[in-house]
Amino acid sequence: MKRRTYIIIGVIVLSIIAVITIGVAVGTRKSKSTSADDSNHPIFKTWDGQSVNLNIQANSKYKKSFYGINYGPVNATWPECGNTLGDVIEDVKILSQLTSRQVHPNNCLDIKVIPTIWVDNNMTTYQRQYDDLFANLNQHGFDHIEGVSVGNEVIFRKDIPTNDLFQRIADVRQKIRALPNAPKNFPVFTSDLGSNVGDAFVSAVDAVFANVHPYFAGVTAQDGTNWTLKFFDENDVIYASKQNKPAVIAEVGWPTQGASNNGSVASIPNLQTFISQFICSANARQYKYYYFETFDTPWKTQRFTVLEGSWGLFYPDRTLKPGLTLPDCAPTAPGLSN
Ligand SMILES: *[C@@H]1O[C@H](CO)[C@@H](O)[C@H](O)[C@H]1NC(C)=O
Ligand SMILES: *[C@@H]1O[C@H](CO)[C@@H](O)[C@H](O)[C@H]1NC(C)=O
Ligand SMILES: *[C@@H]1O[C@H](CO)[C@@H](O)[C@H](O)[C@H]1NC(C)=O
Ligand SMILES: *[C@@H]1O[C@H](CO)[C@@H](O)[C@H](O)[C@H]1NC(C)=O
Repeated sequence: MKRRTYIIIGVIVLSIIAVITIGVAVGTRKSKSTSADDSNHPIFKTWDGQSVNLNIQANSKYKKSFYGINYGPVNATWPECGNTLGDVIEDVKILSQLTSRQVHPNNCLDIKVIPTIWVDNNMTTYQRQYDDLFANLNQHGFDHIEGVSVGNEVIFRKDIPTNDLFQRIADVRQKIRALPNAPKNFPVFTSDLGSNVGDAFVSAVDAVFANVHPYFAGVTAQDGTNWTLKFFDENDVIYASKQNKPAVIAEVGWPTQGASNNGSVASIPNLQTFISQFICSANARQYKYYYFETFDTPWKTQRFTVLEGSWGLFYPDRTLKPGLTLPDCAPTAPGLSN
């Protein structure tokens, strides 16, 4: 499977943990907003100065059909690191209408996230994110954290030796489980190409997180769902089940702009074709997957290619891509620890 090479240099951990805090804040605000006096609430702004309305307006075009979804806030990549709470709140207002297992009986948003420590060959970057992760776990606890991922596609890029990566996973796991409030058997893992999963990989992780991209296999959008599920079953599920560990598709999606790859053509109609088949098939068969991704990412277009930046269901201004109809079928697979 051909695969893009890109590097996310990020304070992804910080930003994503911010989501949790905001999720709760938005929920609380929502349940209180029947009172007319909102004047003493803090005013949040987005990066372009728009005031954030803390009420969630239900949008009938959004469907809670996604098991999980990949998301990173705007302006969160190092060294810019200028992302705002306001932007994350606006994003969570949408995200909360796309994935289920979220609305708490008391109206608070119950969003679960998987923070990722970015791993490349720079120890300064690793240490900064590692410290951020533990600072956040200490401050906010585990209620909204479903697992922790150490590195994405590190084996594919050969940034560090695979055994070093496995060592880091073991270290993070040991340190997390030593925390007094850590859930028993809290899952720690890495994500990599589905083709990089094998017995040693599965031994090193608590859950097998595989990126499976039909686009990089060159298949048509029409064949994308069959290809994805078959590839995942044959290359990932098979190894995971031998060791009785959960298997999860960590990334699967379809781009709308950029260079074609043999039968794979980037377009909105093809994105529609792919999600119309994939989401409901995967839900019906209880697959765990994280759709890639929520918003287009102009920073990737800038640093890499337009193809890299164009995998969103939404444009960066948070409008759904024109003509797109989100599938309507609730996911059925249980959470990671079930
Ligand atoms: C935030 O992102 C927007 C949109 O990509 C960009 O125009 C702006 O310059 C960024 N701001 C900062 C502070 O990085
Ligand atoms: C590693 O990353 C830091 C920022 O996190 C940067 O200042 C430093 O120059 C990088 N080191 C190398 C060797 O690239
Ligand atoms: C996927 O494969 C199954 C069984 O091989 C077949 O029945 C089905 O038509 C295929 N679906 C698509 C969309 O090609
Ligand atoms: C490209 O697509 C054609 C027809 O779908 C297929 O026969 C061929 O094997 C593909 N080539 C590559 C390199 O994937």
